[in-house]
Amino acid sequence: MSRTPDDLPEEYLLGQFIPLHYHFNMLQDDARMLPFQEAIEQMVPVGGKVLELGGGTGVLSYFAAQRAEKVWCVERNPALARAARGFLDQNQHGDRVEVVQADALDYVPPEPVDVVICEMLHVAMVREKQVQVLRAFKENYQRVHGPRLPVFLPDATLMGFQLLEREFNFHGYFAPVPMFQHPGEHPSTHVLSEPQSYSTIFYGRDIPTRFEWDGEVVVQHAGELNALGFLTNNFLAFLLREQRAITWMMSQLVLPLPEPLQVRPGDMVAIRLSYDAGCPLEHLQESLQVERAAVQMPRRRAA
Ligand SMILES: C[S@@+](CC[C@H](N)C(=O)[O-])C[C@H]1O[C@@H](n2cnc3c(N)ncnc32)[C@H](O)[C@@H]1O
Repeated sequence: MSRTPDDLPEEYLLGQFIPLHYHFNMLQDDARMLPFQEAIEQMVPVGGKVLELGGGTGVLSYFAAQRAEKVWCVERNPALARAARGFLDQNQHGDRVEVVQADALDYVPPEPVDVVICEMLHVAMVREKQVQVLRAFKENYQRVHGPRLPVFLPDATLMGFQLLEREFNFHGYFAPVPMFQHPGEHPSTHVLSEPQSYSTIFYGRDIPTRFEWDGEVVVQHAGELNALGFLTNNFLAFLLREQRAITWMMSQLVLPLPEPLQVRPGDMVAIRLSYDAGCPLEHLQESLQVERAAVQMPRRRAA
């Protein structure tokens, strides 16, 4: 097996590990950064203790350190842990953050914490290990520190899909590839149905490890149904006093369908999906079954 300079199996780098030179995408993504910054400001108590799992460049720990007395920032990738330490040293209150190079699957902070931040989120909860890490964390933490759990940030994740007609023409080259795009209007995408939610995760409660849906969706607009768009909205914090939530709507994952269907308003489309949290994207794609729902004939009245 080929190994990286830090003696990690290469598959780890290409899978869950995100090399430093991709982190700028996350750092400059305002749709992600601003709600995290606001949610952390709202949820971290002044003088509190915070744990971040999957710290990357350390930016979310830095936000937390503006209020907290102590932050543990756990990052498994040694190169990133070193980079985070270097960046934090150049930022205000970076000295309040202890970067720990460890696997978040088995790390327990030495003291109880008020808030746990974990951003190992991927659209549709495939690929990244948010679910596994937070399930393991809760078990390990309660074994060491007792039953009272900290606040989780994000608090919840809502997942849904919608029927799409998407152009897969790239400079004349037809290539129906999975892609990510803004969830709103898109010139090459025609939305054919309302979004349908299929799973909700509350991180403070029992976290599901498998997502399944089997049902029918009503077509709203005519078109060629050739893709499903997966929507993932993270509720970073609920501000009960203000009666609002701070949310981060991720990019939409567009998965092309092998057999397009011509659909009209009022048609019913039967959809089935089932996949494990953190699985490769292909598992979700392979699980998809999309077909015209059997038309129910109106019952004849008895003469
Ligand atoms: C999506 S990035 C987010 C980074 C950072 N929290 C931010 O918001 O910019 C997820 C990070 O989790 C790290 N990671 C993945 N699996 C991990 C594990 N088992 N233990 C610790 N860190 C992990 C990755 O190396 C990556 O830096």
